[in-house]
Amino acid sequence: MKKRKILVTCALPYANSELHIAHARSTYIPGDIYVRYCRLKGHEIVFVSGTDEHGTPISIRAEEEGVTPIEVATKYYEQDVNDFKRLGISFDNFSRTSRKLHYENTQDVFLKLHEAGHIYEKDLSLPYCPNDKRFLPDRYVEGKCPYCGFDHARGDECDSCGRALHEGELLYPHCKLCGSPTIIEVSKHWYLKLSNFAEKLRTWLEEEDVLPVYGKEYLIGQYLEPGLEDICITRDLDWGVPVPLDDAEGKVIYVWFDAFLGYKTSTIEWAIEEAKDESKWKEFWLKDLAEEKDTELIHFIGKGIVYHHALFWPTELMGSGHRVPTKIPTYGYGNLEGRKMSKGRGWYVGLTEFLDNFDPDTLRYYWISYSNLLEDADFKWKEYQTKVNNELVSDLGNFIHRTLTFTNRFFDSVVQEINDLDEADNKFLEHLGELQKNIEKSIESFELRTGLTSIMDFMHKCNKYFNDKAPWKAIKEAPEKAKTTLGVCAKVVRALAIFMEPYLPFVAERLWKSLGFENSVHEQTWDAALEGFSAGHKIVDDPEPLFAKIDDKIIKAQEEKLKATLVEPSEPSEPTPLITFDDFKTLDMRVGKVVVAEHVEGTEKLIRMEVDLGAELGTRQIVSSLIGYYKPEELVNKQIIVLVNLKPAEIRGLKSNGMLLAAEDPQTGALGLLIVDRPLRPGSKIT
Ligand code: 2FM
Ligand code: ZN
Repeated sequence: MKKRKILVTCALPYANSELHIAHARSTYIPGDIYVRYCRLKGHEIVFVSGTDEHGTPISIRAEEEGVTPIEVATKYYEQDVNDFKRLGISFDNFSRTSRKLHYENTQDVFLKLHEAGHIYEKDLSLPYCPNDKRFLPDRYVEGKCPYCGFDHARGDECDSCGRALHEGELLYPHCKLCGSPTIIEVSKHWYLKLSNFAEKLRTWLEEEDVLPVYGKEYLIGQYLEPGLEDICITRDLDWGVPVPLDDAEGKVIYVWFDAFLGYKTSTIEWAIEEAKDESKWKEFWLKDLAEEKDTELIHFIGKGIVYHHALFWPTELMGSGHRVPTKIPTYGYGNLEGRKMSKGRGWYVGLTEFLDNFDPDTLRYYWISYSNLLEDADFKWKEYQTKVNNELVSDLGNFIHRTLTFTNRFFDSVVQEINDLDEADNKFLEHLGELQKNIEKSIESFELRTGLTSIMDFMHKCNKYFNDKAPWKAIKEAPEKAKTTLGVCAKVVRALAIFMEPYLPFVAERLWKSLGFENSVHEQTWDAALEGFSAGHKIVDDPEPLFAKIDDKIIKAQEEKLKATLVEPSEPSEPTPLITFDDFKTLDMRVGKVVVAEHVEGTEKLIRMEVDLGAELGTRQIVSSLIGYYKPEELVNKQIIVLVNLKPAEIRGLKSNGMLLAAEDPQTGALGLLIVDRPLRPGSKIT
């Protein structure tokens, strides 16, 4: 068999939040199954990924938390490395896009594309915050959605109704950082000419069988037929890879342009640190060398980023002397109990938390066996329990456990030689050979699921064979037959350990050790899986159980926890009683400008402000619980609304003379101050 050289990647997770269990389903578990199988087949595999650390969500998160973007990224990088290891995702290297090597790599490719004429300049009219003196990328602009009226729609999309918003559509756009109304200014940007490659991309997609059929048709219908649009690959931000051109100060390269190159950076790191051959990466990336060495490049991704990987990314590659991907296996997402996972709404199971409490192979098993991987799947706690208790513990565990313990008991743990096979024995072993072929077909076609379900179907055959042969009876009546049965069963169990390795690597290793091997199941060869044991081989005397049953109480607790954390969109509340205009007039509300704001030492949340309320009222001290929503320095110069005829109060020994007005989001608990949307003199009355 030809040994292949394959570079396998999994999409780089963003480093602005932790992974949840569904991330594992669309990308990482499938990639790892494929890689483990290929290693057993003896192919040369390099398996890489890394954290995707640029982009606006991460810089916004850092600004909100009062830390730097790299601090946010480092926290999640470390968490991801740990979780992937605990889930058995066997990367050969896991890099970060904030590393120097990655900056050099990205700038180099940018310049190659620029020199080759695939990048051009264009002036864009973009939102600008006159207060912060900066251009605002889409996520930094908030306003009212023109379609559903949601007040916190972003510049490019409304989170409430899900509509994409085009330039100029957002109503009352303002800066997310300081609340000032935005204005439009001209800024120079750089575009990647995807259109230069439209024909080539189409031929490649049509002829090379890179994507599942639906993905190919989607890209051709949605993007190539209407005419492939060029894409802006720079941003006005200070977090990211700087644009390596003289007239590009303050601009960074768009996060997607650099994220893909994380695959290459990670391969270079692997070559230097793991392969100890600095130029080894080249055969996977440089067009001519890749052809000469016949290497492959396989990207495992979730279905939402197929445009990026099959049109945008190949353009970067084709235009800069790189090879293109060989395959892009694309999988559906996972939901939780019928709803989309959402941390904000409390409907969520984090990967870290899951792995703190449950066996990693049970998650691998659940997601792969649940449904065809192209479709979305649903994680349900009850179904998870059923799969673990009935399928893993009973169907899989019983046969193996009985084989091992009977061998211990009847034959002093010595694996029996196989003599005089009857028809049932032969048939059973034939099924084992078919199983091996089924798994191969399933994994090599990236479909993955039927390989695992055929193992489980085979387990029914195993349990039936064991019951029909009844070695516990045969040992008394025809001991030779019992020897053969248990010898056959042991051979099957040994093969199963290897067949399971790609899917359930931890359990396969536990089983391998129970079979009395000192080496690791991960080092075995797929094609030799049907070889039996050497004569006189002894298994261990006290085999470990492979899986433990999950108790009802544990499942119930998880379900209740979810219910307790879910934030349902609030019911419309009872209307408050109507008031007259005279009632309203009793409230004296004024525009105030914050001149001083400082954290009140020794308190968790309080900020002391001095607010200019104009000539008539002067400057007043107001104390308010705002830490966690605002940093003191953010408040300075804000034009807020103050109820000035509220009786003064004393808060932690400080006089607070007036109340500033704020609103609380009932779903997220976020607090926003009321501000006026154009500069007004302090003291102006709310009428
Ligand atoms: O969609 C995402 O989660 C991106 N962080 C994936 C990037 S994949 C690639 F470009 F590296
Ligand atoms: Zn601003």
